[in-house]
Amino acid sequence: MKRIGVLTSGGDAPGMNACVRSVVRVANAKGLEVLGILRGYKGLIEKDYIYMGPRSVSNIIQRGGTILRTSRCKEFRKEEVRKQVVENLSELKIDALIVIGGDGSLTGAKALSEIWEGKVIGVPGTIDNDLYGSDYTIGCDTAVNTALEAIDKIRDTADAHERIFLVEVMGRRCGFNAVQVGIGGGAEEVLIPETSSKLDDVVADLAESAAKGKKSCILIVAEGEEEGGAIEVANKLNKRTNKDFRAVVLGHMQRGGSPTAMDRVLATELGGYAVDAYLEGKSSVMVGKVGGKLISTPLEVVLSSKKPLDSYQIGLLPLLAT
Ligand code: F6P
Repeated sequence: MKRIGVLTSGGDAPGMNACVRSVVRVANAKGLEVLGILRGYKGLIEKDYIYMGPRSVSNIIQRGGTILRTSRCKEFRKEEVRKQVVENLSELKIDALIVIGGDGSLTGAKALSEIWEGKVIGVPGTIDNDLYGSDYTIGCDTAVNTALEAIDKIRDTADAHERIFLVEVMGRRCGFNAVQVGIGGGAEEVLIPETSSKLDDVVADLAESAAKGKKSCILIVAEGEEEGGAIEVANKLNKRTNKDFRAVVLGHMQRGGSPTAMDRVLATELGGYAVDAYLEGKSSVMVGKVGGKLISTPLEVVLSSKKPLDSYQIGLLPLLAT
């Protein structure tokens, strides 16, 4: 019987559990054994794993985090460590590895596929939605919805005090979360690394808003914004104006919580499709969903390409803030 390993790596993303569940159940249904590798690549180094069957993934589809645990494993960047992992994989009789994670984790998956004869299949799991080869990554929809819940609450207090709030959302160097949250939360301004937003414009826009009678505002700041995070931008704006800004950093709260329907379904589809990709003989690919179709893209292409933000959405933002 063929045996596959599955692991979750890097920042956890809501829906990772749904994906693990799908991998395990689809693989078992298709006659494969599954080992769950614990704590990402760390578990491969330490040979820390569990046998998984349909019952070991009961009641997890609705849970955030990952039952396999995760880590950012710096050790795995070392070639000698990866060579040891290849030996461990052969000792564990693993024929294929399914890696659920973001760009760092998939970089590790590609490096492993270059020295290991087993098959390596990546699944995009990150709240950042910054991976080429899938319109959405597992977790980004939940993270946006979680941020929106917080922003709706912040708007109440902003309105009550007639204040300006800067809210920082996660996303590393990608402004996807910020744009979605900005549109969905009706933000007056969105600062993202992809556009050259700049504080002079923000000051001018705020003055215009005030002249039009706006008493409170929400500004979304992507954590990768070059002007700094929400606290830094608030300090800079405080110095330039006589207004009283408040900064809120949503941070890791965005990564937790029960996955949305969209994330559960996407995670389930991609988990099953990852198993199918292996059974079809594919390797060193990432599975994804583009334009409603399940596809696989070579990891090399995924990692060397940039997924652009939706330019129409970005163009709408200033028009909606009037
Ligand atoms: O990649 C997911 C992510 O949540 C990013 O948005 C963020 O920059 C980073 O991880 C935070 O990493 P850590 O959990 O290691 O602090």
